Amino acid sequence: MTWAATVLTLYPEMFPGPLGHSLAGRALGEGIWSLETGQIRDFATDRHRSVDDTPAGGGAGMVMRADVLARAVDDLLARRPEVPLIAMTPRGRPLTQAYVRTLAAGPGASILCGRFEGIDERLFEARPIVPLSIGDYVLSGGETAAFVLLDACVRLLPGVMGAPTSGEEESFEGGLLEYPHYTRPYEWEGRTIPEVLRSGDHAKIAAWRRAKAVEETRLRRPDLIERHGDARRPPPSGARRKEESDKS
Ligand code: ADE
Repeated sequence: MTWAATVLTLYPEMFPGPLGHSLAGRALGEGIWSLETGQIRDFATDRHRSVDDTPAGGGAGMVMRADVLARAVDDLLARRPEVPLIAMTPRGRPLTQAYVRTLAAGPGASILCGRFEGIDERLFEARPIVPLSIGDYVLSGGETAAFVLLDACVRLLPGVMGAPTSGEEESFEGGLLEYPHYTRPYEWEGRTIPEVLRSGDHAKIAAWRRAKAVEETRLRRPDLIERHGDARRPPPSGARRKEESDKS
């Protein structure tokens, strides 16, 4: 079945944008996923088709109106009741590879793109919306965050990535960054490929990659080690190593 993405935005012309190219673009052409956009402004009712207003309590910028967004959201929820509805906002919960996997395994994603200073909070109270952030920085709108979310999901859909295993060993899957990669030429600017990778000993290569993944995660992302535990640490004597799935 086609994985259905719907994006509610003030800038529908931004889509498919980067998602029309490479893996995602090919998959879109093949019908593995579909992309529909909705213009939020179509749900405004006043003469000026306004979707925002000044912030209650004062302050800079404008806030997206709950009543206009609710009409857009209700229309979408009625048409795609089984698809999770997500709002891209820096105030959302952090996007993780685990959530990407969950979404990719479902029927699709409906995405509301915020703009301006934010969205009237009452919308989140009144509708089943998952607020999602792609990182601790502020973009000028949710559209670029929607590209990120959709790209991460689409590449996991069956038939999109070349090798079926290529999604399983990559960064974050075991709670670690992925091991480093090398390819020809063997020597470049005086640097050589680690000898173990040329040994043909697959057990040794796997052990080296695992050790590198742990080492580099420690250095670059100690927060990931804290969250998942050190997968390399031996279990206490007599105790059995816990299943990998226990750690997520
Ligand atoms: N909109 C603006 N900044 C964002 C972020 N960091 N994540 C998701 N949506 C956003």
